[in-house]
Amino acid sequence: MRPLWLLQALLLASAALGQLLDHRAHVFNSVSSALRQWGNTLNPNGASFVPGVIRAGTSMYHARIWPLAPGTPEWLAFDAEMSFGIFGNGGRFPGANGTLDTWMRTYSARRDIKVAYFDGMSAMIATTGTFDFVDLVGFGLDGTPLGDWRGVWDEYARAAKLCNWTRENAVDLDGFVRMNAGFELIVCDWASWELVANVNVTRTHQDISEPFYEWARSAAWHNFVTDSRVEIDWSGFVSAHGRDVLLDPKSSTKERRMLSMSNETKMAIRDEVLEVSNRPLFEKRGINWQTLADTITTRYAPRLLQIQSILSGTSPNATEISAAASLVHIALVPYYDPTLADLGLHKCINGLTWHVQRDSLTREEAKIYDSVIYVLERICGTLYDLFDMLPSASPYPALHAPNSTISDASALVTMLFEDLAWPGFVTCPPGACSDAVGAFCSLAVWPIIWGGAGQEWPRCLSRADFDWRNRRPPGRGPGGGGKRPGGGGGPGGPGGPGGGGGGGGGPGGPGGDRPPPRDAPGDGGPHDQVAFLTLEQGPPTDDEDWVWWPEHYEL
Ligand SMILES: *[C@@H]1O[C@H](CO)[C@@H](O)[C@H](O)[C@H]1NC(C)=O
Ligand SMILES: *[C@@H]1O[C@H](CO)[C@@H](O)[C@H](O)[C@H]1NC(C)=O
Ligand SMILES: *[C@@H]1O[C@H](CO)[C@@H](O)[C@H](O)[C@H]1NC(C)=O
Ligand SMILES: *[C@@H]1O[C@H](CO)[C@@H](O)[C@H](O)[C@H]1NC(C)=O
Ligand SMILES: *[C@@H]1O[C@H](CO)[C@@H](O)[C@H](O)[C@H]1NC(C)=O
Ligand SMILES: *[C@@H]1O[C@H](CO)[C@@H](O)[C@H](O)[C@H]1NC(C)=O
Repeated sequence: MRPLWLLQALLLASAALGQLLDHRAHVFNSVSSALRQWGNTLNPNGASFVPGVIRAGTSMYHARIWPLAPGTPEWLAFDAEMSFGIFGNGGRFPGANGTLDTWMRTYSARRDIKVAYFDGMSAMIATTGTFDFVDLVGFGLDGTPLGDWRGVWDEYARAAKLCNWTRENAVDLDGFVRMNAGFELIVCDWASWELVANVNVTRTHQDISEPFYEWARSAAWHNFVTDSRVEIDWSGFVSAHGRDVLLDPKSSTKERRMLSMSNETKMAIRDEVLEVSNRPLFEKRGINWQTLADTITTRYAPRLLQIQSILSGTSPNATEISAAASLVHIALVPYYDPTLADLGLHKCINGLTWHVQRDSLTREEAKIYDSVIYVLERICGTLYDLFDMLPSASPYPALHAPNSTISDASALVTMLFEDLAWPGFVTCPPGACSDAVGAFCSLAVWPIIWGGAGQEWPRCLSRADFDWRNRRPPGRGPGGGGKRPGGGGGPGGPGGPGGGGGGGGGPGGPGGDRPPPRDAPGDGGPHDQVAFLTLEQGPPTDDEDWVWWPEHYEL
């Protein structure tokens, strides 16, 4: 994992203060986190819609309890482990008697598949905002239908609405990419996919922890590595940030939801989504903004963390302060110019986008451009201030701010971290999660890894954490009160990770401790299991507030 453990404490402390981000910081983080598990888990209410393509020849997966072909709409998982995690116990949950057969189908794209990606936990079944963007597109201004108790849970209706939206508006899209624990595609039409394998993967021995553990682990593969099987066309990046509602996960329940936007704003977003979807893909092949965001985060994050580690120590000595000054110096080497009136600050802010003419960008890209400039203004401004405050080890004459103290300097860096809130700042302790022992760093991730209040996240998980026999009895997770969407006993963590979901009715694999009804509706998409267990458990209620950030990650 990245060596960013130290900062977590700082960030969590700031989260407790309820610091809300400038919308441009959110836009930057959306771009930086697109098709990555981590940042979208931290910011579950998605706020971006962007077209892209899955190239011809890409393989994807669908597990079912019958060898027969699925209808439409249905789902494909990007990783076989996700499909197997859902159906690898033959549609049965740990503790249930017997198994059904399981069939794993592999499909290959016959041609380029034009898709749209909804960011956040846009495939997490909840009434807390994860579906606000998806359902604004599919269902319209009123969003998720809640009157009918199946409303939020009816993934087939949701998918049908999205696919119908493409048909009714002659929208040039073949499917929709969303995320919960891993990425998946809503398939509107199987004609573009060729079945290349259909294997009976029924397990003859009951190794019930394997599918959930491997599913969770496969999601973690994409924590910080983009699932680049979707190529994004950034010129069509529609962001809901910077409009009439804040959309900050630390904000009030209302202010963190697109549902709270005015009808005018919602209509404008719908129009924009329709317009970008019908643009030819990559018509304006330009900047890969995620690569640009990575250029910024990879260059500055480790160095800023090291600087802060020094400055926040107990009375750093002159040698240490000089080392911090040296780190500031090297960060500014391409820009610092004593012959310029601003000493090169402007170059530091614009140095990665010199060639970009804002006027020539689409309005969607201009928003990304503005977010990059905002982030660099904050970083460069802080570095130039530090350059003045720290006795410099550089060959340049520094303008020492005479009255500043080391703690002033440290406070500047803390403020910067708060203003950026990069998802990469929240990590497990360095070295704690080794692939060699099958461990991985994880947040609580719906629907397989549940957390209870009072637990420290992120945490390192391994196979033993998914052994259902280690599960705590219902309602007795540490801290209890693990909140969840849906009725009690909804899909729970495979157990171990902290006895997840303590309050609701207990940890347990998808299905909690109760076996699902035998006659599962639907036919085997990634959602069937989630959908059918909830049929038994009844309607979700609005007051259940599945809150991931900040409550979940507070110290
Ligand atoms: C499994 O079957 C046994 C024997 O029929 C029964 O006693 C037990 O309650 C069943 N367990 C579950 C979880 O259905
Ligand atoms: C989708 O459109 C078809 C045909 O127009 C219609 O029969 C069906 O009810 C629609 N489905 C939804 C979920 O709106
Ligand atoms: C699938 O595999 C299982 C386990 O080997 C076997 O019991 C079952 O009969 C197979 N199903 C079919 C339809 O061949
Ligand atoms: C917004 O639109 C919805 C759906 O058309 C309607 O029910 C609602 O009354 C509108 N709200 C306002 C404030 O106009
Ligand atoms: C400064 O502090 C570091 C770390 O505590 C220590 O290793 C070093 O010897 C100290 N240097 C001086 C000059 O005191
Ligand atoms: C530094 O502090 C002293 C005493 O508080 C004050 O007189 C002086 O103006 C300050 N200098 C600067 C540059 O702020």
